[in-house]
Amino acid sequence: MAFYRQVGEVPPKRHTQFRRPDGGLYSEELVGEEGFSSDSALLYHRGIPSAIVDARPWELPDQTLTPNAPLVPRHLKLHDLFPGEEHKAVDAVTGRRLVLGNGDVRISYAVSSSPSPYYRNATGDECVYVERGAATVETTFGALEVGRGDYVVIPRTTTHRWVPTGPEPLRTYAIEANSHIAPPKRYLSKYGQFLEHAPYCERDLRAPVQPLLGEGTDVEVYVKHRGTGPGGLAGTVHVLPEHPFDVVGWDGHLYPYAFNIADYEPITGRVHQPPPVHQVFEGNNFVICNFVPRKVDYHPLAVPVPYYHSNVDSDEIMFYVDGDYEARKGSGIGKGSISVHPGGHSHGPQPGAVERSLGVEYFDELAVMVDTFRPLDLGEAGLAVDDGKYAWTWSGRGPSA
Ligand SMILES: [Fe+2]
Repeated sequence: MAFYRQVGEVPPKRHTQFRRPDGGLYSEELVGEEGFSSDSALLYHRGIPSAIVDARPWELPDQTLTPNAPLVPRHLKLHDLFPGEEHKAVDAVTGRRLVLGNGDVRISYAVSSSPSPYYRNATGDECVYVERGAATVETTFGALEVGRGDYVVIPRTTTHRWVPTGPEPLRTYAIEANSHIAPPKRYLSKYGQFLEHAPYCERDLRAPVQPLLGEGTDVEVYVKHRGTGPGGLAGTVHVLPEHPFDVVGWDGHLYPYAFNIADYEPITGRVHQPPPVHQVFEGNNFVICNFVPRKVDYHPLAVPVPYYHSNVDSDEIMFYVDGDYEARKGSGIGKGSISVHPGGHSHGPQPGAVERSLGVEYFDELAVMVDTFRPLDLGEAGLAVDDGKYAWTWSGRGPSA
């Protein structure tokens, strides 16, 4: 992250002796990106962060990817995953089911009620969108209380776990990058401060405010890392002699944080604004945007729904979270749906949607969009809940049997 925070105790000078109450030394650890040349944090551990006593393979959930072929737009019904009481035995990490993915990003979904194991993703940053439910995200940096509408951004290798709280199951939409995830550079000054035109700023970001210390020995941490399995991934369980939550203080610019979609201030105009005004974050070869409830275009002859568009460099994945997405009416898409609009197919409003939108002043819609610059393939969960009909909704006629 772009700005400095300090939590707990840190010594006045970095890389100097910092002693525990018993006179021993804390272990200083630098967690840094891009080989000491980008953002970092300094953490002060009671124990030795390198210490492990055992390692064994972790068989990851099915990461198989199937090409979108023949190339068609698709409607994936996420709420058909995890039926009934299945969530009770599921956690938000090992229970993730792969919906879509490519070499840059993977999108998974889970409905969970069980605490996850301790976990670190060594393949890239994660941005987990909380569709419903609430959780405490416990991390080496401290805890985050998160709930409906939160994006939870967790830097690569941050040890953490998801503990669902509250009465309803936790519904999480996990966007796992093979890179870092950050606010778009155009929102930031050359020194990293959010600029006035940005739709959110530092005050909207919530980070841990105090250390979180755990007790325990022989603690398992599930590590997802680069490997030769499907998707270029592999998993390992490390057993640590002492609890990974042993950080008494940290400071720096790299830490987990949450941002709620309700704090995104939409940018509107007299005529239709293009999707970059809806952008929240960016990663390597993909962007994350959101469509939030907003006043819409106010030119007297405005057409509030989008024009047909062919994003020649992108696949576009829209996750419809709440409200009523005007442009998709008549397509069968509703809450919990994903639309896959691949590059190579021009998409836009379903028939009748343009006319219905004329004169409308407000859209009550909430959707999270991921645009990728390389094609997305389908994961096992995406294949399982493909409605098989969406491609024909603009023409009203599919292939004859
Ligand atoms: Fe689109």
